Amino acid sequence: MSQEHVSSSPPIKIGEKILLAENIKKSFGGLVALDGVTVGIRKGEITIIIGPNGSGKTTLLNVVSGFLKCDLGRVLYKGNDITNMPPHKINELGLVRTFQIPQPFSNLTVLENLLVASRESKGLKVLNAMKKSKWIEYEERDVERATQILNIVNLGKVADQPASKLSGGQLKLLEIGRALMNGADTVLMDEPAAGVAPSLAHEIFSLLRRLAREKEMTFLIIEHRLEIAMGYVDYAYAMAKGRVVAQGKPEEVVNSPIVIETYLGG
Ligand SMILES: Nc1ncnc2c1ncn2[C@@H]1O[C@H](COP(=O)(O)OP(=O)(O)O)[C@@H](O)[C@H]1O
Ligand SMILES: [Mg+2]
Repeated sequence: MSQEHVSSSPPIKIGEKILLAENIKKSFGGLVALDGVTVGIRKGEITIIIGPNGSGKTTLLNVVSGFLKCDLGRVLYKGNDITNMPPHKINELGLVRTFQIPQPFSNLTVLENLLVASRESKGLKVLNAMKKSKWIEYEERDVERATQILNIVNLGKVADQPASKLSGGQLKLLEIGRALMNGADTVLMDEPAAGVAPSLAHEIFSLLRRLAREKEMTFLIIEHRLEIAMGYVDYAYAMAKGRVVAQGKPEEVVNSPIVIETYLGG
């Protein structure tokens, strides 16, 4: 899944910080959503952000991925200053927020949904042609790659079914597959296990862990379902009211008095 990214900096090694958001501030009118947030993400790890509703988690993902401009602070990715860069430019460096890839088309097959997510094969061109109902011939190379990825995300059996037949959990697997097809090596996900049956939620997190360990991919995940996620993640941040209130090993963060208090009191 490796690919050349436009960057003059030396490659980041496993365990080194690949992504750093420093002192991020973001207000909506008078509401301070992020009040000086600093988080660092290490390559090849799964980092989780927890925190009660309204604590600023989604806003942080939006700032990091370029969907929202911050008021203050900076975001560094692979040594590049990506603060307030447009999302597609950030994507070119290898970082993707899953929803930013063209949304799954329920009338397309699972395989086709991967093909349109490809950045290398000009997925968007393919999409535009589809909207005009033109016949498109996919490159054999892309079909091969997509088929391999579907096997990795356990959707090989349903490759030729329309995406509309997939369960909620299978759609999350499809999102991960599309991120792989896109060529991203760093993936931001907002609540991948939300509304997914426990067994499939475990499958999703095992998959993320395998991709992190075997393919050196990096994940930044927001997740409420701690009982499922905690066994799989390497590092945790807890947020409350626009600030980081705890960070460290997942068990320690979850059991820290301030986190227990914010969840019970918040
Ligand atoms: N586009 C927006 N406009 C105005 N307020 C927003 C917007 N997005 C988020 N907020 C507010 O910012 C705060 C943080 O929201 P959010 O980042 O979505 O929290 P979380 O994801 O932790 O639940 C909340 O008070 C929310 O209402
Ligand atoms: Mg949110």
